[in-house]
Amino acid sequence: MYKSEQLAQHLRQLIENGTLKAHEKLPSLREQVQLSGFSLITVMNAYQELESRGLIYAREKSGYYIAQGLLEIEAEHAQIVSLNTPVEINSLVFKYLKSIQDEKIVPLGSAFPAQDIVFSKKLTQIMGQISRNPKSYDAIDNLPPGNLALRKLIAQRYCMQGIATDPEDIVITSGCMDALNLSLQAIASLGDYIVLQQNIFYGALQAAERLGLKVVTLPEHPQDGFDLTAFEHILKTYPVKICWLMLNSHNPVGFTVSDEIKHKIAVLLHQYHVHLIEDDVYEEMHYASKKPVSMKYFDQNNMVLHCSSFSKTLGAAFRVGWVHAGKYSQAIQHLQLMSTISVNTLLQNALVEFISNYHYEKHLRVLRKSLQQHKLQFYRYLESRLPTGCKLQYHPSGYFLWLKLPENIESMAVYEALIQQQIGVAPGRLFNVAEAKTQYIRLNCSFAWKDDIQQALDALLSTISALSSDQTNI
Ligand SMILES: Cc1ncc(COP(=O)(O)O)c(C=O)c1O
Repeated sequence: MYKSEQLAQHLRQLIENGTLKAHEKLPSLREQVQLSGFSLITVMNAYQELESRGLIYAREKSGYYIAQGLLEIEAEHAQIVSLNTPVEINSLVFKYLKSIQDEKIVPLGSAFPAQDIVFSKKLTQIMGQISRNPKSYDAIDNLPPGNLALRKLIAQRYCMQGIATDPEDIVITSGCMDALNLSLQAIASLGDYIVLQQNIFYGALQAAERLGLKVVTLPEHPQDGFDLTAFEHILKTYPVKICWLMLNSHNPVGFTVSDEIKHKIAVLLHQYHVHLIEDDVYEEMHYASKKPVSMKYFDQNNMVLHCSSFSKTLGAAFRVGWVHAGKYSQAIQHLQLMSTISVNTLLQNALVEFISNYHYEKHLRVLRKSLQQHKLQFYRYLESRLPTGCKLQYHPSGYFLWLKLPENIESMAVYEALIQQQIGVAPGRLFNVAEAKTQYIRLNCSFAWKDDIQQALDALLSTISALSSDQTNI
């Protein structure tokens, strides 16, 4: 075991046994060097490891603190492994998406990052320049599998993470949703068994519903995010063909699964010969200096189709994504030619300019910093005002907070009450097919702090309190 792992494990034990309490300040890096006798780099690595697991969080110019909640989350779901067939989520998602489309609604329920933090002036300048060049509209060069220069740049980004990639492995798609759907269609047939995490982006549930798949749901692990024991149990019990997993900055819950667990998942997938569709659309939303690896990193046998997009980093309106499809590239292109045909030519050319001139990396650095600040601000505000029985899960990546409601308060009740006040929140029911009632809501924290945000959060807190006292008075 590395020294940094030893130190991280020691600190984790102190957190687990309650010696270090929520929001307590950890010794500074230099103090920890003195205390532990380890080098500064070892201490930094250990703190980063704990941060990436959501056990501690950093406050700018102040240091590291123990995160609240993660270890206290009950193992209430931990043992449930359920088979849900058929899925029926589409109409609920449709109703929900319609209800939050009104621009007067405060969009705390939205999955889109705030437009002002993903907006890039540089990219719009590039788009302006290339829009005047007739060559930028050459449709033939951009037909499936997509613009070669863009595929080369995406392939390079994989190679930089240690994932050997040829531009021919990549298919450019209309956003990540298209990449995920095409991948699933290329592999799955009616009646196949698919494993989905119990809380999962509703797009996965819709896709499973559309293809008539049998869904087996996998509960979250209260600390690690991913329950390996339950996963192995499922693979032993059902003839699973495909998994659709999200392991980095999970939507809706927010956790990032450790490299160690990802490696074990890869071993199990190989052992049971199961394909993985990896939804990694939030892969760039980490706050730590090192990007978390994807499952594609551990893929020895071309069984992982890794899907992502620019939607969370540059804006969902771009509709440019991709799949690292490997040997499924041809099958996916065939499906694409029968559906969306190709992705916007001008945007693909603009992205080539933007990425190859290093503007994307610069944009990502600023974006991550803003997201981290905004999320912490939301977290601190809410955390000190939570009504009794609520618990807030903070994970140091992405822009979602996952709020547990008091006993007997159902997520749809909170959503319905707030939408009347023109405030949108995402009810846990949207993400969960296993349970008819869910006690969680997801909040989008990507927005800069303004009066309307604070008022919306105040309304959320008072709505929960009012629903709680209604329950106690029954
Ligand atoms: C987890 C997850 N996967 C996929 C998507 C779809 O991404 P895109 O807008 O690139 O199609 C979203 C969008 O919100 C998402 O949250």
